[in-house]
Amino acid sequence: MDIQKIGVVGAGQMGNGIAHVMALAGYDVLLNDISQDALDNAVALIDKNLTRQVSRGKVEQADKDAAMARIATTLSLADLGKTDLVVEAATEREDVKHQIFEKLLPHLQPHTILTSNTSSISITRLASRTDRPERFMGFHFMNPVPVMQLVELIRGIATDQETYQSCLAVVEKLGKTAASAEDFPAFIVNRILMPMINEAVYTLYEGVGNVKSIDESMKLGANHPMGPLELADFIGLDTCLAIMNVLHDGLADTKYRPCPLLTKYVEAGWLGRKSQRGFYDYR
Ligand code: CAA
Repeated sequence: MDIQKIGVVGAGQMGNGIAHVMALAGYDVLLNDISQDALDNAVALIDKNLTRQVSRGKVEQADKDAAMARIATTLSLADLGKTDLVVEAATEREDVKHQIFEKLLPHLQPHTILTSNTSSISITRLASRTDRPERFMGFHFMNPVPVMQLVELIRGIATDQETYQSCLAVVEKLGKTAASAEDFPAFIVNRILMPMINEAVYTLYEGVGNVKSIDESMKLGANHPMGPLELADFIGLDTCLAIMNVLHDGLADTKYRPCPLLTKYVEAGWLGRKSQRGFYDYR
């Protein structure tokens, strides 16, 4: 299927990165959110990140200008009716995603492929509540989207081959690499990454190390670009907790039990960089 116009639902950290790379690759992008402030901030951030790419010689000024001109914003899900592909990148809560699909579906054309950037929730279950399980799949970007090479493509039980091929073609046009994952809790990246982050929080909780020594150990001792606690702050502690809960509930194994300290931070509203406080203080 020839995809030209892409809708992105959610203008947060992932949504604005997805809009950025889609527009840069030549797609017309319609970015949707429930908040005008979120849309304005997303466009300003895309502009800033593209300017940085221009200044580092990664993107031509003319390509940046063309990409910015391809991005439109809307507060109305109905406006996404004219798109060929929708990527839902709202908050990592299943009830919120179901509500969005319910409002969006009456407006979509029959051919439109619906995808979710969920980092852990069952694609089969999300798809089952839509009118198009065969044209529904997981389209999972990594953060920061403009920098990270991987996109996980996750087929639900009913996803058809044409839908998969169409999404694969989009990933290739973005110049990124697709990893095909089966639809099991948290797929590949987060099935491996989140237990590592959770274990780092346990290491802190049990006093084995402090924030600095844990992060330094993994940066200098395992060559990770960021320490696991710094990375947790970057991803968002609420997202980390949500993914651990999906693993714990979905695989019913105590090895995925979220660390009580992670839960406590989220309960305190200490969500990492986005709330200015997490394992580090950004105020
Ligand atoms: N947009 C565009 N470019 C960006 C960017 C953005 N949002 N953020 C960083 N960059 C670019 C910088 O311009 C810089 O470019 P050059 O190489 O041309 O100089 C490059 O990325 C490196 O950035 P910095 O120099 O600012 O900082 P750094 O060297 O410390 O790298 C990092 C930053 C790329 C984030 C690096 O620390 C890193 O790779 N961290 C790990 C990230 C990671 O693991 N992500 C996956 C998280 S898991 C996930 O996303 C899945 C999920 O569902 C939770």
